[in-house]
Amino acid sequence: MDAFEEYLMTNLPEAPSFHPVFNEALQAMLLAGGKRFRPRLLLAVVDAYTPLLRESAYPVAMALEMFHTYSLVHDDLPVMDNADLRRGEPTLHKRYDEVTAVLVGDALNTHAFYLIANAPLHNDAKVALVQELAYSGGIGGMVLGQAIDCWFEGEKLTPEQVDFLHEYKTGRLIAASLKMGAIIAGLDEKMQRELFDFGLDVGLLFQIQDDIIDATESSETAGKTTGNDEDKNSYINHFGLEGSCERADALAARIGERLASFDAPLRRSLEALLKPYLARHKTK
Ligand code: IPE
Ligand code: IPE
Ligand code: MG
Ligand code: MG
Ligand code: MG
Repeated sequence: MDAFEEYLMTNLPEAPSFHPVFNEALQAMLLAGGKRFRPRLLLAVVDAYTPLLRESAYPVAMALEMFHTYSLVHDDLPVMDNADLRRGEPTLHKRYDEVTAVLVGDALNTHAFYLIANAPLHNDAKVALVQELAYSGGIGGMVLGQAIDCWFEGEKLTPEQVDFLHEYKTGRLIAASLKMGAIIAGLDEKMQRELFDFGLDVGLLFQIQDDIIDATESSETAGKTTGNDEDKNSYINHFGLEGSCERADALAARIGERLASFDAPLRRSLEALLKPYLARHKTK
């Protein structure tokens, strides 16, 4: 277990009360693991420029992971994707009930902002971090993307709309993760924008790969319900498996080129994290 994972595991949110399961449900999906991709993106930027701030950045990295976990808990609900398995465990509405899953999602969302507010960072940085997460995780990103994703189930969008949907639903929170690292590291606005823009490419690649996983992996291997995108405007449904792999390869090549243009410490730090995602895609 690395230092961030250990931090996360020892700083789980606590909601002690006489409720028989709420506290356990609140922690369950964080305990279940996952790739921790978004906090690792944030920490990669902090490590590259201001390694001494790494530990001060942990609460913010954890806030990102909590916010993302909220989006997954709600995404799996029967009214959204109706999925039974997440991170190798039964989804919260299966293990407990829908009310608990809705409220755990709400709590993970709000508590993320509490963590940022209490982080040992300058107030100016914290205001900028709250702005970024609230917007890119909300109406400027994830929430709007999810709304479009669900509204247009069974209705075919144009290719431009498909890109919009995926940029909002997944790309912008991933882009925000890099930008939040840049805010903590005190990078200027130009560099913050550059990292955000680079993150949009990374986020889109990540979602195409997620759509490929839905089409090609068993639920057991993926640790989450797969074969679930039949009515979705997924890349697979629009461009087929081969077309999606080609798009992913083209994006991966562009990400590689953009990486090469970054300062050496940033390049090294991001390359280590992104390498597995940049390998060539196979259709079989
Ligand atoms: C899944 O996210 C949902 C998407 C936005 C593609 P992750 O693939 O990051 O899921 P975990 O955090 O590893 O479980
Ligand atoms: C979800 O996309 C993106 C979120 C904002 C949670 P998916 O619905 O494809 O994610 P999975 O495949 O269930 O993880
Ligand atoms: Mg979904
Ligand atoms: Mg889903
Ligand atoms: Mg998916």
